[in-house]
Amino acid sequence: MRASCPPAHPAPLPVPAAAALVDEDGGAAVDTAADTTSVGTDSGCEDHEHVSVLYAEVMDGLAPRSGGRYVDGTAGRGGHAEGILRRGAPDGRLLALDADPVAVAAVRDRLALFGERAVVVQSNFRLIDTVVRAQGWDGVDGVLLDLGLSSPQLAMPERGFSFAADGPLDMRFDPAIPTTAADLVNDLSEEDLARLFYEYGEEPRSRRIARAIVEARRRGRLSSTTELAHLSERALGYTRGRTHPATRVFQALRIAVNGELDVLGETLPRAVSLLRPGGRLAVIAFHSLEDRLVKRFLQQESTTCVCPSAQPVCTCAHQPTLRAVSRGAIKATEAEVLVNRRARSARLRVAERL
Ligand SMILES: C[S@@+](CC[C@H](N)C(=O)[O-])C[C@H]1O[C@@H](n2cnc3c(N)ncnc32)[C@H](O)[C@@H]1O
Repeated sequence: MRASCPPAHPAPLPVPAAAALVDEDGGAAVDTAADTTSVGTDSGCEDHEHVSVLYAEVMDGLAPRSGGRYVDGTAGRGGHAEGILRRGAPDGRLLALDADPVAVAAVRDRLALFGERAVVVQSNFRLIDTVVRAQGWDGVDGVLLDLGLSSPQLAMPERGFSFAADGPLDMRFDPAIPTTAADLVNDLSEEDLARLFYEYGEEPRSRRIARAIVEARRRGRLSSTTELAHLSERALGYTRGRTHPATRVFQALRIAVNGELDVLGETLPRAVSLLRPGGRLAVIAFHSLEDRLVKRFLQQESTTCVCPSAQPVCTCAHQPTLRAVSRGAIKATEAEVLVNRRARSARLRVAERL
């Protein structure tokens, strides 16, 4: 690590007053340049480092305590996980999950010093309830989901998440899942590709990039990250200093390969049903699609009525399960973004089980 690197689990930043609130309707902008192409470059850190975003805000939000039971569904490199165990000393316990076996090995090493207080399991967080019950736990006091991917995953060309270096079009968090990004790029119809780039990449010129891919396929299978990046540049044009056109293309493919939005949509209610009264759910999203999903879910679970707005009298008898802890989304401070560029698109939302 270079001298300028921030610590992997930084000292608490002033919170939450200093943490900027995002406009309620603004959501998170599609801002994936940081998590797709610029691996640690701005912080000056070596690529293998992962600096946990919104660290202090997550600790404040989850408020881990001794005796509590917590799940980190996206353990990554274990920065938040370690924080939860430290704050939950002497006997708070943590179940740390990650779909990526490489992340799981790294987190096991990092959390070994906590002995039996930490259990690390390779699992998709969509199975959160099964894994929690397999521990013999009947409920938990906090769940954290820090979505997306880690800096080390971006920095490994062989994982295919980034077009900053040449690698295979893979993009799977869990290498055991059957479909890679190359499969989608080479096998989907032009219409399905266009829909994928439009829906998951919010790319307005989705048809143009889909057509270019299908034309390129006639010359042979597309297999590398840089090949797709150059193709995106040629199809969509690229102005230096602007977001690279492949950014949205890569985001869309990653979401599709890992079923990210479906998995998140299934997991949120499962996580809530595991929470004991007073337990907290904290979710960090990095782009508007997932942040919107989280925001709507939390709104729905916090309200007493989910009847259509045109209906004059409530007939739904909806029972809220959550209370919002943060008003709107919590955003990183300028100071944090300065040392960790990934943090600029992060949006944290926290809610408490009623
Ligand atoms: C942003 S990183 C988490 C970083 C972590 N909070 C830390 O402090 O080091 C996101 C991690 O979530 C994992 N992940 C993404 N989707 C997942 C899913 N559906 N199930 C389990 N892990 C997932 C990725 O493999 C990655 O390691």
